[in-house]
Amino acid sequence: MDQIEITGGRPVKGTIKISGSKNSSLPILASSLLTKKRMNILNVPNLSDIHSMVNLLKSLNSDIKFSDGEIIIQCKTPKRNFASYDLVRKMRASFLVLGPLLARYGNAKVSLPGGCAIGARPIDIHLNGLKRLGVKFMIENGYVIGEAINGLKGARIILPFKSVGATENLMMAATLADGKTVLSNVAQEPEVVDLGNCLISMGANITGLGSNEILIEGQKQLKGCRYSIMPDRIELGTFILLVLGCSGQLKFINLSEDLIDHYINLLKKFKELKLEKKTKNILLVKSSEMTYKAKNIKTRSYPGFPTDLQAQLSAVMTKAIGTSRIEEKIFENRFMHVAELNRMGAKINIDGCKVKIKGRKKIYGAQVMATDLRASSSLIIAGLMAEGKTIINRVYHLDRGYEEIEKKLSMCNLKIKRIKN
Ligand code: UD1
Repeated sequence: MDQIEITGGRPVKGTIKISGSKNSSLPILASSLLTKKRMNILNVPNLSDIHSMVNLLKSLNSDIKFSDGEIIIQCKTPKRNFASYDLVRKMRASFLVLGPLLARYGNAKVSLPGGCAIGARPIDIHLNGLKRLGVKFMIENGYVIGEAINGLKGARIILPFKSVGATENLMMAATLADGKTVLSNVAQEPEVVDLGNCLISMGANITGLGSNEILIEGQKQLKGCRYSIMPDRIELGTFILLVLGCSGQLKFINLSEDLIDHYINLLKKFKELKLEKKTKNILLVKSSEMTYKAKNIKTRSYPGFPTDLQAQLSAVMTKAIGTSRIEEKIFENRFMHVAELNRMGAKINIDGCKVKIKGRKKIYGAQVMATDLRASSSLIIAGLMAEGKTIINRVYHLDRGYEEIEKKLSMCNLKIKRIKN
């Protein structure tokens, strides 16, 4: 298995092109099942999670070509509605094919996604919402088998929690339901809005995107489209936090104005970071201070501080002045990175869903192990902040969500390389 080798202690300087968003590419790829027409999806990152979704869609009879960031995809006929355990278990987002399959064919058999390194992650909100649209479910031998004999019917659904995946599954299903669907207490993440905009360009009638309530007027059928994926919000956030941890400056290109404004607002209390909007798609981030203060942060649904940046923030805070308190409000078990950061000399204590990080003058390179996607990028940040050499094992987690991260960072005055084994 490949490893990443880092020699830390250098300031960062350079320009990074942010890739297309993984978390919006995945549902948008799943949405191709809603039409028999062709879709051209642009700005798609070349990541192993994207290949997992492509393989799953191929198994559902889709024709797919993927080159130079463009996916051309078409799921004509004959229908296939069976998503196997072997394909679904690799990635929870595979479960996003359930809503589109039910909407297009009226029945589907999709493997339960199974356990995951960051918590139980149930699917009750997805299934209860789809039941409201008229689907009857059975769970048999690890599979969810759903059937809507008379097709899907629009309904009013109030989500008990703003689940991103459930909002996406229900929104996709409702685009082909008979009548009007009102989804309340929905996720407001930009990736949900991106999916909604793509569905609109396929002919769906959706209003309220980005708000707490989405209205969908079901259509008889959807058409193909050409759609460009938004920039990756979490890749950008990871590299902004890196600037704080290492000091220096990075210019980010290929962004959107909304995303730039969001980060300027989100990181207001990070006084040591200067975020400057250069144009509507270029952001300059600087941190000239060698020291920075501890922070108290709670993760929240959008527009709050994302859970997907909690591990990276924890890594940065290991060298802050004072004690940081970070509370994880979205997942119950998302501190797998803590033990690894402590091996590098960090002083982090876990107490339930909270961590207390006592800032230290230095942390030190070590052999560490990546345990999940965002934990992996927190170890990269820590390695770059540390004195000496760090070797990160199990980097396949990283390849799920960061496109050529070591190449991007090695062009920014940092010593980082992949060791192929
Ligand atoms: C998506 C993102 C992931 C991010 C997360 C929260 C993708 C591909 N992944 O994951 O990177 O960390 O949003 O922003 O977009 N829950 C239930 N029942 C359900 C569904 C969810 O209890 O039916 C719980 C989960 O266990 C978790 C919380 O709700 O504690 C958030 O999950 P959700 O928003 O659904 O996350 P994902 O869509 O899986």
